Amino acid sequence: MTGLLEGKRLLITGVITDASIAFHVARIAQEQGAEVVLTGYGRLSLVQRIAQRLPKPAPVIELDVTNQEHLGTLAGKVTEHVDGLDGIVHSIAFGPASTLGNPFLEAPWEDVSTAVHVSAYSFMSLTKAVLPLLSQGSSVVGMDFDARQAWPAYNWMGVAKASLESVTRYLARELGPQHVRVNLVAAGPVRTMAAKSIPGFQMLEDQWAVRAPLGWKVEDPEPVGKSVCALLSDWLPATTGSMVMVDGGFHAVGM
Ligand SMILES: NC(=O)c1ccc[n+]([C@@H]2O[C@H](COP(=O)([O-])OP(=O)(O)OC[C@H]3O[C@@H](n4cnc5c(N)ncnc54)[C@H](O)[C@@H]3O)[C@@H](O)[C@H]2O)c1
Repeated sequence: MTGLLEGKRLLITGVITDASIAFHVARIAQEQGAEVVLTGYGRLSLVQRIAQRLPKPAPVIELDVTNQEHLGTLAGKVTEHVDGLDGIVHSIAFGPASTLGNPFLEAPWEDVSTAVHVSAYSFMSLTKAVLPLLSQGSSVVGMDFDARQAWPAYNWMGVAKASLESVTRYLARELGPQHVRVNLVAAGPVRTMAAKSIPGFQMLEDQWAVRAPLGWKVEDPEPVGKSVCALLSDWLPATTGSMVMVDGGFHAVGM
């Protein structure tokens, strides 16, 4: 039996631990036949060590999405490993402490601008950096936390995610004529390093456990990883500019 992603060449960002959503996307993608190149930010030797734990150890390219030099040389470095790309995964978010969990009215613009730069604007920067490598039919996938409503503690990261949702729609407009799809997976809470930095995360976990119609396990990244892989495959060929809700159905119920 051939895998869902047989022959697909994928650039996957956002691995920092083996709990990272991106790690599980990379793992499932490889199991489904994809060739994976990772990017890593900051602690590169750690990312390289984690990359060895994948079914097939993957190469790691350094990428800080706010660094113009990294973005400018990214495509060239990718072609040292693969001759083109069929998909990109953006699994990156960061907000300084003042933007998450602290009084919404107190966050300074410098911190908010960092959150928006790293978590939303970079979806465009990353896509643009490797656009010449993308084949027709390529799929670009980002990671969202439903920003159509306000959450406790999520604060300016919620504003950054609302920007990410809008960036997705504009990228979809822009890249549709080149037959490149751009979508988000809006995930329920998953226990990762980024999640630990959200002070109200426990509250979200507790709510999901009682409200999601399908149930929800915060320690299980598999449903999110599989859904990202579904979007990377050829099986959602007319879907772009969308948020795919992967939250156990939480968004659909009021109580
Ligand atoms: N964990 C959850 O509950 C949850 C839910 C919905 C959406 N998400 C989203 O999933 C994505 C991945 O997060 P995760 O939960 O796997 O956590 P994680 O901490 O494992 O991953 C976050 C990644 O962002 C990277 N990063 C931060 N600043 C960067 C920069 N300047 N340049 C490049 N990379 C940078 C980190 O190195 C890390 O790999 C994020 O967009 C997050 O908002 C997470």
